[in-house]
Amino acid sequence: MAYFRDQMWSILFASLLTVLLMWVVYIIMGMVDKLVITPLRIKRIMNRQGVTGPSAYWVLGNILEMVKIGRAEAKKDMKTGDYDIMPHVQPYEAQNCQAYGKMHMWWSGWQATIRIANLDLIKQVLAKDVFTMPQIQFQFASVLMGKGLITTEGEEWALHRQIVNPAFHQEKLKAMVPIMEKCASSMANEWEEKVKDGGGCVELEVSHYMANVTADIIAHTAFGSSYEKGRKVFEHQLSLFKLTLQGLQYFIIPGYRILPTPLNIKILMTQIHISRSLKEIIQTRKYMVNMTKNASYGNDLLGLMLTATSQKTQDVKGGKVHFGMQQLMDNCKTFFFAGYETTATLLTWTMMLLASHTTWQECARAEVIDVCGDGDHPFNANMLDKLKMVLRIFCQSI
Ligand code: HEM
Repeated sequence: MAYFRDQMWSILFASLLTVLLMWVVYIIMGMVDKLVITPLRIKRIMNRQGVTGPSAYWVLGNILEMVKIGRAEAKKDMKTGDYDIMPHVQPYEAQNCQAYGKMHMWWSGWQATIRIANLDLIKQVLAKDVFTMPQIQFQFASVLMGKGLITTEGEEWALHRQIVNPAFHQEKLKAMVPIMEKCASSMANEWEEKVKDGGGCVELEVSHYMANVTADIIAHTAFGSSYEKGRKVFEHQLSLFKLTLQGLQYFIIPGYRILPTPLNIKILMTQIHISRSLKEIIQTRKYMVNMTKNASYGNDLLGLMLTATSQKTQDVKGGKVHFGMQQLMDNCKTFFFAGYETTATLLTWTMMLLASHTTWQECARAEVIDVCGDGDHPFNANMLDKLKMVLRIFCQSI
């Protein structure tokens, strides 16, 4: 009897060991395929088509080199009147374009990335919907925004888009114009005061004001009545952005994100703080609607998303993908990251261009005074359609 029991244990142990070994071999084979075989195969295929690029470190790719060159360039000032911004803003990319052509390959970690700087080819790629975000950018975006519109694809993206779309209808955006005007006027008044105090002349850091007014407008349009709390969430999102940038170069190390490094812990704590605050804002809004038996969640982006979510509950629950509290929070985070840096930079750059091209500045001012009056009429959304010259200036600037 004891002999049979020993035999059984031996068989069981041997089977477990075999399964474990097979699993380890499977994992190793997967990693060899991902880190060695596939990169080599892609490199061979692309080289055969004449697409080459800088030599890269195994697994690390070109990330470290890119970060180093970018940091060195960021310390330099741009020459006044020099609008060839590529060598300054994306020095590594500009350098590679010169050396390897307008279509070249570089390695984002072990992931091959084709960089295209040819307008016709860019249009073809965008039209074919074959674009996917490189792994490292995806990881970066996910830390900041979770799984919102920018970080989802396919069916999941389609559902997010359906929920978010009503918030971006033209008439809804037009309804937000008065609050935008209020934020912009308050900044302009502050500038006027400063100029007066400075005896007619004052030096201002325009980018700082543009960043502030953009964050203010997004907080108002996204969170409406919950503006104060929304603005605080944005401040934490900005800290998260800075922390995540500090760690970006380590993202290529597999498993780095789950290591308990001081930076990762700080990132995690900030993420928890943001999620808690957003959850509180959303739950308070839902509670108020239930308590007051009010049918409307409000006309801000959050309210419009909540309305769309409640109307779609049936489909959302029935489908394979889900849109609940987490997805609502992730899209609130997305609005900030998608709208903040982009808008603030566009405004700053446009101001810089107008400051150095005074004839265009005068044309723009004349048009604004002609359409809107000299501050004597209340501003309304229909005036925006008539600002043709201002629109052209923004298009040129972008
Ligand atoms: C000058 C200002 C802006 C520029 C240049 C800009 C540019 C872009 C670009 C190029 C994309 C496509 C990204 C991709 O497909 O990977 C995008 C997507 C997006 N942007 Fe903007 N954006 C601006 C302002 C805003 C603002 C103010 C918001 C909202 C508050 C916003 C929300 C979004 C969202 C939600 C997406 C994802 C859309 C989707 O995947 O369906 N953007 N933006």
